[in-house]
Amino acid sequence: MRFSRYGRIRPSEITDQEVWRKRRQLITAGMAAGAGLLLGGIGSQAGAAMTGPGKNRKILLSGESAYGGNLAPTEYEHITTYNNFYELGYGKEAPAENAAALKTRPWSVKVSGECARPGLMDMEDILKLDQEERIYRFRCVEAWAMVVPWVGFPLGKFLQRFQPTSKAKYVEFETLYDPQRLPGQKRTVLDWPYREGLRIDEAMHPLAFMATGLYGEVLPGQNGAPLRLVIPWKYGFKNIKSIVSIRFVEKQPINSWQATAANEYGFYANVNPDVPHPRWSQKRHRVLGRGVFGGKEDTLLFNGYADEVASLYSGMDLRKYF
Ligand code: MTE
Repeated sequence: MRFSRYGRIRPSEITDQEVWRKRRQLITAGMAAGAGLLLGGIGSQAGAAMTGPGKNRKILLSGESAYGGNLAPTEYEHITTYNNFYELGYGKEAPAENAAALKTRPWSVKVSGECARPGLMDMEDILKLDQEERIYRFRCVEAWAMVVPWVGFPLGKFLQRFQPTSKAKYVEFETLYDPQRLPGQKRTVLDWPYREGLRIDEAMHPLAFMATGLYGEVLPGQNGAPLRLVIPWKYGFKNIKSIVSIRFVEKQPINSWQATAANEYGFYANVNPDVPHPRWSQKRHRVLGRGVFGGKEDTLLFNGYADEVASLYSGMDLRKYF
């Protein structure tokens, strides 16, 4: 069990967490009973966010949470109704309202580039990989944060299956391009498809995670169904949603926000209270669900995961490589 510095729980949060623990015990009990890989039937993804957990298809966890078990999760309703997903609209509520457009089957992920075993993997096979729960602190570049009980698998373990070569210095990710399923792509707000990149050692770090679900269920569309990235020590925009392509490359890729406003969004995007965004400070942020007045917290370097990840950047000027 690892505990980050976000481990302190306020008395007001304890009830939420207890409710969640009980649900997790039920999920684990289901696993012990040998109930197949996926529990339950196919739930409708669209609109489920409004009704809370229990509507979407359950994902069976292969083991107890290895990370963040001491963090109190933000309520499901907040996590699924305050989103950034420009392909599904531009206001924070728009992605939840428009998520029905995003049909997530059929879905496959193409892995290509500098690797010995490139391939195409169907989403149903991806869901058959060992799924675990990790409760990570999630911090957006704007001044808000939440704690999300993600379900998924370590990114590095997944990438190793494709045997990256010594030329694979970076990994590039791409979102689905389909203006029918992602209608926001009919407008050229960004240069679609959304793209992101990681250095190979960042991608292989044990904290780096591919999420297939949250709160024990498959991801709602607005949170990046059926598969999205979660890099807990980086700003939210690195966490690319609805991924269809992963490519091992030799040169540092350019991500979508860098391509749009390079002075505001860098490649590294490590959470850093000492590097202000040109239009706002990064020193403090609001925690969703804690009320308008009660929810401000100091931002920590690497989002509180410095003990685990600072060594990835030793010797680098984090003001220059922001
Ligand atoms: N991925 C795609 N494809 N399109 C987007 O607009 N927004 C990013 C990131 N991934 C985005 C995306 C931004 S700016 C943030 S803060 C997070 O998703 C938000 O994730 P959440 O809605 O699950 O909280």
